[in-house]
Amino acid sequence: MEGAFLSCAGNSLPTSRRLNVERRRGVVCMVLGRSKVDLGNVHWTTPKGEGSYGAVFFGKDDNTGTEIVVKCPKDVPLAVNLLETEKYVNNKLSAVDGRWAEYLGSFSVPYEADVPRGTMRTCLVWRKEGDGSTLDDYLSKLPSFRLPQLCGVYEQTTSALQRQTCKFVVKELLYCLIEMQEHGIMHRDIKPANIVASPESKHPFKVIDFGSSCDWHTPLKRGLSTATCDPVYAAPERRLNMFSPQKFDVFSVGLIGMQVLMPSLREQWQVADFKYRLEKYDYDLVRWCAGILDGGGSCSMVQQVRDFYDDAELLPVLAQMLRKDPSKRASAEGALASGAFGHVALADE
Ligand SMILES: Nc1ncnc2c1ncn2[C@@H]1O[C@H](COP(=O)(O)OP(=O)(O)OP(=O)(O)O)[C@@H](O)[C@H]1O
Ligand SMILES: [Mg+2]
Repeated sequence: MEGAFLSCAGNSLPTSRRLNVERRRGVVCMVLGRSKVDLGNVHWTTPKGEGSYGAVFFGKDDNTGTEIVVKCPKDVPLAVNLLETEKYVNNKLSAVDGRWAEYLGSFSVPYEADVPRGTMRTCLVWRKEGDGSTLDDYLSKLPSFRLPQLCGVYEQTTSALQRQTCKFVVKELLYCLIEMQEHGIMHRDIKPANIVASPESKHPFKVIDFGSSCDWHTPLKRGLSTATCDPVYAAPERRLNMFSPQKFDVFSVGLIGMQVLMPSLREQWQVADFKYRLEKYDYDLVRWCAGILDGGGSCSMVQQVRDFYDDAELLPVLAQMLRKDPSKRASAEGALASGAFGHVALADE
């Protein structure tokens, strides 16, 4: 994958996760923040991606070969707010080894170095996971065998492969929600484009992009007022429910589960259309399936629904995760405890 090149010559990023986190973060900030970084070697080329709120670059520490990702916000107030939240949440979560990208620190690019026009000089840095491909790439761009391969799932038939892959992805994402929620973090923008693949890691999916998150454990619920969540993946309530804030992200994971399960929902517009139709059924997935089987979908869609309609575990749990009313929607713990994902170890077991 093409990316920009950011070289931090003359210094090393720490490589080992065995280092204690505080020390590691200190080292990184020092390395990236102090002027000893040879900024003559910083080359900004085509960014990996340029969204509405910032640009993301790939880089490399020449000494250790550590691949990094650098995110610079655009110089507009909303982007600055999102970056502040992202920095805060990453700092908080970096104390834990969870299913999210490893945050290395923030740094200010000194004035003698060029930055792309319109971007700010404060940047956040993560260790690069894999080659930067996201779950969205796996669903809609890469060959279809790549996702089950990433999940380590092997099955004889295509439909069994899809069901098992769906179970694996949903299980990993539910664990990730539990890990975040233990620290009060509601992500609010869980979608395939914000999940990077990490083939070398014991957890092949890492959540990124915490700019829209909210910390429910702070008195003023930090981040609550700033969100740019994707309307397609957002739960029907659109805002965090005061009594069940953690259910918002569960809905998004449910939608992702449907995308993994059904090849007809792999593209953005297809999942948007699915959500629109689900709304017509008042977010009752079982009724939506019955409608498809009753002739309300293309031949391939009918076949795909038939393939999982009789799965006594998967359909009920996905239906629970996609319920309209957050108080009736499954929690991440409840969905995992349903038995649909095999035996799972929850914190209190
Ligand atoms: N730690 C990481 N490892 C590998 N790739 C990453 C990492 N963080 C971000 N990326 C890559 O950069 C892209 C954009 O990152 P992110 O979602 O954080 O930024 P964004 O502001 O939402 O940008 P965009 O609007 O392009 O999605 C991701 O889709 C992914 O390909
Ligand atoms: Mg993103």
